[in-house]
Amino acid sequence: MSGMTIAVTGGSGKLGRTVVRVLREAGHDVLNLDRAGERGAGFVQVDLTDYGQTLDTLMGVDEKPRGFDAVVHLAAIPAPGIQPDAATFHNNMMVTYNVLRAAIRAGVRTIVTASSETVLGLPFDVPPPYIPVDEDCTRPESTYSLSKHLEEQLAIQLVRWHPDLSIQALRFSNVMDPEDYVEFPSFDSDPRLRKWNLWGYIDGRDGAQAVLKAIERGRRVPGFERYIIAAADTVMTRPNAELVQEVFPGVETRGDLGVNTTLLSIDKARALLGFEPEHSWRA
Ligand SMILES: NC(=O)c1ccc[n+]([C@@H]2O[C@H](COP(=O)([O-])OP(=O)(O)OC[C@H]3O[C@@H](n4cnc5c(N)ncnc54)[C@H](O)[C@@H]3O)[C@@H](O)[C@H]2O)c1
Repeated sequence: MSGMTIAVTGGSGKLGRTVVRVLREAGHDVLNLDRAGERGAGFVQVDLTDYGQTLDTLMGVDEKPRGFDAVVHLAAIPAPGIQPDAATFHNNMMVTYNVLRAAIRAGVRTIVTASSETVLGLPFDVPPPYIPVDEDCTRPESTYSLSKHLEEQLAIQLVRWHPDLSIQALRFSNVMDPEDYVEFPSFDSDPRLRKWNLWGYIDGRDGAQAVLKAIERGRRVPGFERYIIAAADTVMTRPNAELVQEVFPGVETRGDLGVNTTLLSIDKARALLGFEPEHSWRA
């Protein structure tokens, strides 16, 4: 499927830059909506905490692409501790309400949003109920994570109001670009360094693949879904059984953990989206 017109919020960010590039390479006309970015044909500078600006942009800005087939909503303060908790909450909640509501009012029926692995219970100071964790493990432990959880709840109600609407929340793991991989071999020295997300990560290019596949599914299937989006492997070379035994003794393990297989289950994304990670730090 090519030739769609797609708005991407937060397209100037770490994940957003890759998503915009991959969507364009797939033949789509992409408009980046962000408060930061370079002037150009595919960008509109917009403060998404302002509903008027958000709706106006999605209805059409002078010469820019308009009439969106899908909205990909990535704009956010992207982690705990970057800004004061209340600032993170206010920005992320308000931006998500504005983008979802304005997109619906502008007639968009396919929306993909960035949720986060943090809703699974990161940093796992309280151990997870079982390993690998899956989409049923929801336990936000930070204000940032709480905003992501509540944004998923908002989406659940909006699809109930609009039976023809699809909203899919991608619970991304820690986003990595290829240049980040030089640091990975150092993680092996201390299994606790990266226990906070069960040693997971996602290559930004595979994050973009998940976005593309979620858009394609959303055009066919209405309703709300959430998926963990992670690489197929961990950041470690030490085997999973050893790591779990050392850091999370007594936690139930389910199925074959594999040697370095992701402990953030991507089974649902594989089954429903046809998501299959193509990039690994080991490659
Ligand atoms: N980076 C990660 O490891 C990670 C992991 C899980 C989920 N996520 C989520 O993925 C999304 C993208 O993350 P990222 O790492 O690319 O973050 P980033 O900070 O690099 O990019 C976010 C972009 O959103 C924009 N933005 C924020 N508030 C805005 C506002 N009020 N109006 C307009 N633009 C606004 C920023 O200018 C920025 O360009 C976020 O929703 C984040 O919560 C990121």
